[in-house]
Amino acid sequence: RIVHVNGSFVPEEEARVSPFDRGYLFADGVYEVTAVIDGKLVDYAPHMERLDRSLGELQMDWPCTKDELREVHEELVRQNGIEEGVVYMQVTRGVAEREFSFPENTPTTLFAFTQEKALIDNPKAETGVEIVSVPEIRWQRRDIKSIALLAQCLGKQQAKEAGAYEAWMVEDGMVTEGTSSSAYIVKDGVVITRPLSNSILPGVTRRTLLALAAERQIRIEERLFSIDEAYKADEAFMTSASSFVLPIVEIDGRKVGAGAPGEITTALRRLYLESAR
Ligand code: PDD
Repeated sequence: RIVHVNGSFVPEEEARVSPFDRGYLFADGVYEVTAVIDGKLVDYAPHMERLDRSLGELQMDWPCTKDELREVHEELVRQNGIEEGVVYMQVTRGVAEREFSFPENTPTTLFAFTQEKALIDNPKAETGVEIVSVPEIRWQRRDIKSIALLAQCLGKQQAKEAGAYEAWMVEDGMVTEGTSSSAYIVKDGVVITRPLSNSILPGVTRRTLLALAAERQIRIEERLFSIDEAYKADEAFMTSASSFVLPIVEIDGRKVGAGAPGEITTALRRLYLESAR
């Protein structure tokens, strides 16, 4: 696989970043994951808008120009022959002596790679997935797409050990989001999802999906919902750049609705895929 590091495309075995990089020492960096369908980047512009915001919130510079970063994405897709999958990219605050405060005049580090993945014909979209709930233990700036993902790793591991696919994090009884996805329930024909704030990541897939749903007069309520409400929902689903819309059929061992992918969820997945292609 060909990866990208600081302006160079190299075989992954040859990719080098210093262990003094602040990404490695402090998780001081941000990232984006952009889907690829038919060799084309999906929702690229909003991913870069979010990157711009994440960098700004952390007073970090862009690693290159916006045009160059687009070229990095497209070149990686081309060189690795990716038809379906994702491009992962991260920007960290660069290599410096270990000191908590920001170093001066240190260039940021850019690292990007591709992963081939069956996104459209995902068997999980047919069967739906099981999830568990875990306590929300992350920091208070979850709106920044930080590479500090230890809480999410712990949550995902807990899910895996319970035989589930994803974990929803719960704070004061209310669902925030999945460890790597946005969270939704459907009740009486209304799609319910938490409003944007510092408590969750502003999902790019969420933004596109809500716009598509609104166009089709599908009712949406952006409000907090509890894990108890989720247990009693008619449908539940998650969204992310790497899963699009994925039905959830079981939460903490309790069947959601009929325990099969719901009607609205299935329609939303179809709607999203049509627009992404
Ligand atoms: N995760 N919430 C969290 C905490 C996430 O990490 C993600 C994405 C999302 C969905 O955002 P989007 O629709 O923009 O992908 C919500 C990526 C895919 C990851 O970490 O691999």
